[in-house]
Amino acid sequence: MADRADQSSQTPRPALVAAVSAASAASAMSGRNVLVGICGGIAAYKVASVVSALAQAGAAVTVAMTPSATRFVAPLTFQALSGRPVHTSPWEHVESHDPQHITLAARTHLAIVAPCTMDCLARLAAGRADDVVTLILSAIDRSRTPVLLAPSMNAVMWSQPSTQRNVRLLRDDGFRFVGPDEGWQACRTVGVGRMAEPETLLRAMAEQCPAPGR
Ligand SMILES: Cc1cc2nc3c(=O)[nH]c(=O)nc-3n(C[C@H](O)[C@H](O)[C@H](O)COP(=O)(O)O)c2cc1C
Repeated sequence: MADRADQSSQTPRPALVAAVSAASAASAMSGRNVLVGICGGIAAYKVASVVSALAQAGAAVTVAMTPSATRFVAPLTFQALSGRPVHTSPWEHVESHDPQHITLAARTHLAIVAPCTMDCLARLAAGRADDVVTLILSAIDRSRTPVLLAPSMNAVMWSQPSTQRNVRLLRDDGFRFVGPDEGWQACRTVGVGRMAEPETLLRAMAEQCPAPGR
């Protein structure tokens, strides 16, 4: 037993290190209004831990989901973790009688779309606003409020000329990217397109979040 206790105090435990680093990254967003947009990809389940870490750190987290995203994880999960209503449609004014996307966009300090699908990249690159996530983003002034995109898709989808063209357009338009990573994919292949890990998303958000006072 003593041996085991000695070993555990000397051996770094990656899961614990990652959890501590995620918590300290999230704490940089205490008191900040964070918008988390979620699209219809398998990696949507991983964003539950991002929303939870942000809420635990004292950020005010608003979650918006595309209709496809609600097929992967129930909005109720994100409502419970964020402690706030989840936006799933432009036509539900869940918080106020004002146009909610304008109010939400104006009060957001930092936004992230994770997972960001191939289709969402295409919609954003085309300047479309026909679901609640792209609608809220359309009202965000990116010169004041950073918008991070965390692509997540199969390696072939990621390497499509259309996807790469859209990524270039979006960078030029002031969107910032985190990931994708290379590794195991839900389609049981290995390649580039896997969503960056939750700790990486939290660290990128902490780095990009404007200082209090803006
Ligand atoms: C089981 C399943 C998994 C999917 N995973 C992804 C994914 O990881 N990335 C992606 O870009 N599209 C994925 N798709 C396709 C998107 O869900 C589809 O393009 C959808 O229209 C995206 O809608 P949204 O961008 O509004 O959320 C998946 C579809 C299915 C049925």
